[in-house]
Amino acid sequence: MARLTKKGIWEGIIREFRDFLPEISDDAITTLKEGNTPLIEATNLRDIFGDIRLLLKYEGLNPTGSFKDRGMTMAVSKAREEGAKAVMCASTGNTSAAAAAYAAKAGMKAFVLVPEGQIALGKLSQAIMHGSLVLQIKGNFDEALRIVKEITKDYPVTLVNSINPYRIEGQKTAAFEVCEHLGHAPTYHFLPVGNAGNITAYWKGYKEYEAKGLISNLPKMMGFQAEGAAPIVVGHPIENPQTIATAIKIGNPASWEAAVAAKNESGGVIDAVTDDEIIEAYKLLAAREGVFCEPASAASVAGAIKMKKEGVLADGDTVVCTLTGHGLKDPDRAISSSAKPVKVAADIKKILKVMGF
Ligand code: F0G
Repeated sequence: MARLTKKGIWEGIIREFRDFLPEISDDAITTLKEGNTPLIEATNLRDIFGDIRLLLKYEGLNPTGSFKDRGMTMAVSKAREEGAKAVMCASTGNTSAAAAAYAAKAGMKAFVLVPEGQIALGKLSQAIMHGSLVLQIKGNFDEALRIVKEITKDYPVTLVNSINPYRIEGQKTAAFEVCEHLGHAPTYHFLPVGNAGNITAYWKGYKEYEAKGLISNLPKMMGFQAEGAAPIVVGHPIENPQTIATAIKIGNPASWEAAVAAKNESGGVIDAVTDDEIIEAYKLLAAREGVFCEPASAASVAGAIKMKKEGVLADGDTVVCTLTGHGLKDPDRAISSSAKPVKVAADIKKILKVMGF
């Protein structure tokens, strides 16, 4: 099952899933050995999920800490093969971190356009450390993407947002890994939805595995937006999206139609969860499952909890939730949503007292 090389060393998604991806010349492949992320059984949430088998696809364990690496290895490798010298993206943070890292590895320049003051600290520090030119605009993600599309149309810079089809190609490999791990597709696959590229990619991946006869069932695709940034749910673009889940603070998703198609074809849903539900799931996963994801990622599990409460999920179902990014991306949110550390004197007696002994 597992696509490990003879030596047992994971070679990154392009080499591991070569048969399912557009061809790329070997010397253009730019990889940080992304993919092969764990699918973790959520064993401590039976009080919520009962006899539903819940698994967490922990994409925060990719090299730059998010699922974007799967798409970025493809997009940057292709750009390199085509002789590009620079890449550009708009981002709520994770795409910029991945673009910056893979461009660095390829010896290319990266330009990233982000909404000022809206990027989690970890992501901003990555984009800066990997040497990209970080441009902060007074505007939101949707405006940034519009500008990036204009610039990359007219100048010799390759766009690496998920409207670049190679991004979707790379990201679909996460669905392959889920199938290989389980030996079949899950009953339901839950994802946070922002620009809607990832739900599009997973659905493409599942369909390709089914077409090749590697799986015999398809999952229902369950996309969850944050309530204040839920254009697909309300059916029109949101001018000024609002949510604490900054990664998915998007009012006019680029892959809107493809996400709706994934929902319709699979018999799934695209729905919204509140910021409170997101934070609750975020804290629950960290405290009870030992899995630290960023707030936007927890929208998948918040969605699964909501669907369980609404009676949509049934005992015996296999439910996969993708946790798209690592919790360390957003230390400010982690600290502001948790109990403060206890200040205590450097004195054993006083410490023991606080410990409850
Ligand atoms: N989760 C995280 C952690 C993300 O960073 C994103 C998107 C999503 C979910 C949503 O995925 O856009 O494919 O629907 N982040 C983009 C970025 C927009 O710029 O990093 P999507």
